[in-house]
Amino acid sequence: MEFEQEATGHKKYLIITFGCQMNEHDSEILAGILHNKGYIKTDKQEDADIILLNTCCIRETAESKVYGMLGRLRRLKKSNPDLVLGVCGCMTQQAEAAKKLRQRFPYVDLIFGTHNSHLLSDLLDKVMEKREPVLDVWSDVAPVTGELPVQRVSGIKALVNITYGCNNFCTYCIVPYVRGRERSRSPEDILQEVGGLVIAGYKEVTLLGQNVNSYGKDLKNPLDFADLLLMLEDTGIERIRYMTSHPRDFSDKLIQVIAKSKKVCEHFHLPVQAGSNRILRLMNRGYTRENYLELVDKIRCAVPQAGITTDIIVGFPGETEADFAATLDLLEKVRCYSAYTFVYNKRSGTPAANMQEQIEATVKKARIQELIKMQNKISLADNEAEVGRILDVLVEGPGKTGNNLTGRTRTNKLVVFAAQANFLTGQTVPVKIIKGRLSHLDGCPVNIKND
Ligand code: SAH
Ligand code: SF4
Ligand code: F3S
Repeated sequence: MEFEQEATGHKKYLIITFGCQMNEHDSEILAGILHNKGYIKTDKQEDADIILLNTCCIRETAESKVYGMLGRLRRLKKSNPDLVLGVCGCMTQQAEAAKKLRQRFPYVDLIFGTHNSHLLSDLLDKVMEKREPVLDVWSDVAPVTGELPVQRVSGIKALVNITYGCNNFCTYCIVPYVRGRERSRSPEDILQEVGGLVIAGYKEVTLLGQNVNSYGKDLKNPLDFADLLLMLEDTGIERIRYMTSHPRDFSDKLIQVIAKSKKVCEHFHLPVQAGSNRILRLMNRGYTRENYLELVDKIRCAVPQAGITTDIIVGFPGETEADFAATLDLLEKVRCYSAYTFVYNKRSGTPAANMQEQIEATVKKARIQELIKMQNKISLADNEAEVGRILDVLVEGPGKTGNNLTGRTRTNKLVVFAAQANFLTGQTVPVKIIKGRLSHLDGCPVNIKND
């Protein structure tokens, strides 16, 4: 076949990823499929034979970035008509958006969704054979399979899927519509993957799911997320992280397992979204601010060194000044060391998009600015309080200046420290914290020859 002959001459691919870690990992699988097809990676658009945009649609800004990039790629496509341009991911999974893409960017060769991305190889063959655009988006969920190839970005930390999709239907969120219902991967598949990663020299895994602590509910022999963590404890992996956990489903058993574990890191990303019970109810989050505060207390009691982070949405429909004040108050009480803050954004097809009392953009903007100002103070104070402590840092590689290294604490704080010793990459080293900054810590290594 003509295409296969060409492929052995090492065609090049470039994947541009938008959105969350779930998408980042999907891109690693797409890269794996392309790699198996004989493609090699390039970072330069001009050198690429195929460019894939793996898209996100969580907020409008994520979508506009994709439209902007597709507009800019038109010129490249004109000067290199053999270039295959593909768009996939969460955005294309919405029928309307896929249609719009087709109309606005007719030079896109391939559009596929989240449920058939494992078939990229066949889809590409189709594009090559037909030499005309292919649009193939499945509305049905594909069976979960553990045998997909993967080309990972890092050689130290790996992303591992444990659940796909989401059943929560928070009223603002598009994810359940573009990722389908929640499906758990079998514990055997997960164990096998993590075991393989240990053999390959990986130090850390992040278990991925929209709501990891509802893991296992759909399995034949049900087991829960805490059981899965216990199973992974003995794999030889050094650090275990997970993303994201839902505050409603964070059981006492899970807290105890994490407290006892030597492998599971003391980082708790617990998206609270809002501090007002009325808004939490409208969001369909399934917990109250009191439940959340109690959960944080329990965690800090069982794991005193816990680092807690969160997500907040301001300007949800109907949010009053009093509701917003409740969010500020909650943040002040919990004192997360970091918070991802978002302005509520209407997502078509979600219940909140049709709610009355949408909040004016100017009000939303003022609220997020106030929130960020307050959170920045808390983050800085929390980081300053680390000064003088010696923390275990898993070194990820050189920093920006060339004479420093960066890594993460078990609580997932970024640490930058002066060292030229690149051989430390992949090792966990004790680092003394000398300065706390807004979003990272400066440190100096303890007992390391700095040559
Ligand atoms: N499954 C994860 C997060 C998914 S999306 C969880 O439940 O925590 C990441 C974050 O984006 C959410 O936590 C929420 O804060 C934010 N988000 C989702 N939909 C949004 C919307 N329509 N407008 C603004 N922020 C949104
Ligand atoms: Fe969206 Fe809620 Fe599911 Fe998270 S838990 S993905 S916010 S619906
Ligand atoms: Fe992630 Fe965005 Fe999809 S946040 S699941 S890539 S909509």
